[in-house]
Amino acid sequence: MAIQRGGFSTRIGFILAAAGSAVGLGNIWKFPFEVGEGGGAAFVVMYLAFCFILCFPVMVAEISIGRKTKRNAVGAFTALGHKKWSIIGYLGLTSGVLILSFYNVVAAWAFGYFIEMVTGHFDIGQRFGEFTSDYLTVGLYSLLFMGTTAFVVSRGVSKGIERAARILMPTLFVLIVGLIIYALTLPNAMAGLKFYLVPEFSEITGNVVYSALGQAFFSLSLGMGALITYGSYLSRDSNIVKSAAQITLMDVGVAVLAGFMIFPFVFSQGIEPNGGPGLIFVTLPGVFESLGSWAGVIIGSFFFLLLSFAALTSTISLLEVPTAYVVDEHGIKRSKATWLVAIVIFLVGIPSLLSNGASEALGQFITLPGAGTLDFMSFVGLIANDTFLPLGGFMIAVFVAYVWRKENFDAELAEGADNLKGSWLQSYVNFAVSYVCPVLLGLIFIVTVLDNFLGIRIMTMLLG
Ligand code: TRP
Repeated sequence: MAIQRGGFSTRIGFILAAAGSAVGLGNIWKFPFEVGEGGGAAFVVMYLAFCFILCFPVMVAEISIGRKTKRNAVGAFTALGHKKWSIIGYLGLTSGVLILSFYNVVAAWAFGYFIEMVTGHFDIGQRFGEFTSDYLTVGLYSLLFMGTTAFVVSRGVSKGIERAARILMPTLFVLIVGLIIYALTLPNAMAGLKFYLVPEFSEITGNVVYSALGQAFFSLSLGMGALITYGSYLSRDSNIVKSAAQITLMDVGVAVLAGFMIFPFVFSQGIEPNGGPGLIFVTLPGVFESLGSWAGVIIGSFFFLLLSFAALTSTISLLEVPTAYVVDEHGIKRSKATWLVAIVIFLVGIPSLLSNGASEALGQFITLPGAGTLDFMSFVGLIANDTFLPLGGFMIAVFVAYVWRKENFDAELAEGADNLKGSWLQSYVNFAVSYVCPVLLGLIFIVTVLDNFLGIRIMTMLLG
C-alpha cells in the first residue's frame, strides 16, 4: 500500500511528541490519587521499579516495531509477516478507545477548572462532586476537548503535536517546581513528604501491585501500540534506546514532582490522601486561593490551562492510534477517519460522563468479586488501563523476543545507535524482553486477574 506518511521533522520532535503523549493527566491527576489510595511511598517504590524494569524495555520494543514497519498498531504485525499477532493491535485499539473515552471526561474537568479559576471561583474544590455531576457543562467541555483533539490529529502528527509539546512541556515543569517550593513552606508539609517518601511495606496488597503496574503502563503510554504508531513516523537515524530512556525519565520525573507538590498541600489542608479521583481537584483550588486573589487567579488558571494542554498532547496520541489504523488499513482519508473515530469515542464516553453522580441509572455501579463495587469510569479504568495495557505489554515482549526474534530486534536498535555493538542499556532491553518482561508480567497478570475478577486473593495470602 503506497500511503504517504508524515514524519517528525527532527529527533527532538519525536521525543517531545512521545513525552507529550506520556506526560498528562496520568502524571498529575492519576498518579497522586493512586499513591494516596495505595498507601503512599510503598506504591511509589513499586511504580518506579515497574517503570524502569518492565516498561522501559516494552517502550523500546514498541518504538522499534513501529519504525521498522512504518505501520499502525495493527498493520505493523502483518507487515512483519505475522498476521495472527495483529491481535495485539486490535487489543490496543480497544484499550485506546476505552481509555480515551474516560480520559476525555477528566480532561474536561481540567478545562472546566481553568474556566472556574479565571472567574475566581476558588470554592470549586468544595463543589467538586456537584461540578462533575453537572453533565451538561462537563459534556460541553468534553465535546470541545474531543473536537480540539480531532482537529489536531486530522492535520497529521508532525505539524500540530510537535509544536505544542515544544513550548508547553517545559512551562508546565517550571510551574510545578514553583508550586513545590511554595508547598514546602506550608504547615504540616513534612507529614505529606513522609507519607510520600517513607514506605510502609505492610500497605502492599494485590490491588496495590495491580494498580502500580497499570499506572506505570498508563503513564508511559504503553501496551496499546501508541508508541508503535509514533515510532512509525520516526526516521531511521535516531537512537531508539536513548530516546526511550529520555522519554521514560521525563515522564517519571513529572509524576514524581507532581507528588512532591500535591502531598504537602493535601496534608497541610488536612485532607485525606485516599479520596480517589477528586484528590487534586479538591485540594488545589484552596491552594490557589491562599496565594491571594490576583496571584491565585493568574497562577490557578495558568496551572489548569497547562494541565489541559498536557492532557491534549495525550488525547492526541490516544486518538492517533485508531485513526492511523483506519487510514492505513481501510484507506479512508485522514480527516474523515479522524472525525469518525472521535465521534464513536465520544459516544462510548457517555456512561463515564454520567458515572460521576449524574445518573444512577446508566452503569453507575458494577460489582466485581475482587474489586467490590465500581462506578463506570473506574470499571473502564480497571479493564482497559490496569488489565489490557499490561497484557498488551506482555504480548509485545513475547512477540519481539520469540516471534520477530531478538536478532532482528537488535539489528533495528543498532540503526541510528551511536555505537554499533550497542550500549549496556540495549543489552538489558534485549535480556528484559526475553525473560524479565514475559515472566514478571505473566505472573503478575495471572495473580491479579484471579484477585480482581475472581476474588481469589493469592497475593494477600503470599504477603501475609
Ligand atoms: N500517558 C498519558 C498520561 O499519563 C495517557 C495516555 C496517552 C496513554 N496515550 C496513551 C495511556 C496510550 C496508555 C496508552 O496521561
